[in-house]
Amino acid sequence: MEVSYHTRVKHKLLGDYLSIWETAIKGKIPLLQFVDLFAGDGICKLESSLSITWDGSAILGARIVGGVPGWKCILNSWDPNDRTICDRLKHTLGETKPNIQILSEDANLLVGKILSSAFINPNYPSIFFLDPTAHSQLPWSTIEKIGNHRGKINRNDTRLSRRPELIVTLMTVGMQRNPQDLPGISRALGVTEEWLETWIEFWKELPENQGEPINKSFLDLFTLKLERLYGHKPLTMSVHNRMKSIVYWIVFASSHKRGVEIYGRLIPCVEKYHEVEWWKEVGELKILEMKEKMRQKGQQFLDERFSR
Ligand SMILES: C[S@@+](CC[C@H](N)C(=O)[O-])C[C@H]1O[C@@H](n2cnc3c(N)ncnc32)[C@H](O)[C@@H]1O
Repeated sequence: MEVSYHTRVKHKLLGDYLSIWETAIKGKIPLLQFVDLFAGDGICKLESSLSITWDGSAILGARIVGGVPGWKCILNSWDPNDRTICDRLKHTLGETKPNIQILSEDANLLVGKILSSAFINPNYPSIFFLDPTAHSQLPWSTIEKIGNHRGKINRNDTRLSRRPELIVTLMTVGMQRNPQDLPGISRALGVTEEWLETWIEFWKELPENQGEPINKSFLDLFTLKLERLYGHKPLTMSVHNRMKSIVYWIVFASSHKRGVEIYGRLIPCVEKYHEVEWWKEVGELKILEMKEKMRQKGQQFLDERFSR
């Protein structure tokens, strides 16, 4: 997939989060389940004249979670206009392991099947990564189904208090740019159009929201609904582009205190990367892109001549 450089931030967060799980519980818990419902083809290629690539969510999941025998990894991606997406993912993964399953179905239909078929054991931890390209691809009803797949925290527990961990990219930039798409936005947020209009009016009046972009109202509504479902306030992190405008929010929900703690400690580290290292990398990329342009025009560079 062709992507912008801010996508690196999402993959840093996901890769670090899965690695923490792997380090902390490998050998202690027999089953961890990673479900990537909007997996893409696994490889991120920077939108640039440079040939820079890195691992996408599917490869991170397959390498980290799928690398532990007994743990389970479900990678799904579907695009009616691109039937080769899963073939490309399979090709990138190479030899597939029995604990890694690759599927190609509409995520919003597939979710009911994988939850009802006991494919995902609710009594063991699972991480659902929901990363659509646009808000219209992920209705709230899908999130609700996942959040309601409850199991026991441990064998002696009588309550069904475990819910899957959720990492969702809330595509607020698309919502902001398509204000006429009230039906799509309200479906993504799980409210009626009338309700959404009332919410926006109410939200705009609150003093703490003065000067905030309207898409922050969508995030607030989304997190409010997730809090009701999970019983904990979700954690959020914004991802901005080179123009410093927010492209999307990564929202995390967990019913498990430990999950919230781990993720809560990780967010400031990734935010620091986004604020410092990421900008340095962006600067280096700009120089490389400039050099590449000049090279294409026949320019030679002194350092490269001497290194040959
Ligand atoms: C943002 S990209 C995924 C990026 C990937 N998660 C990563 O981080 O490397 C979203 C992908 O989901 C696919 N997709 C869109 N709608 C879908 C649906 N309803 N069900 C499954 N996949 C869908 C798109 O074709 C696209 O490949």
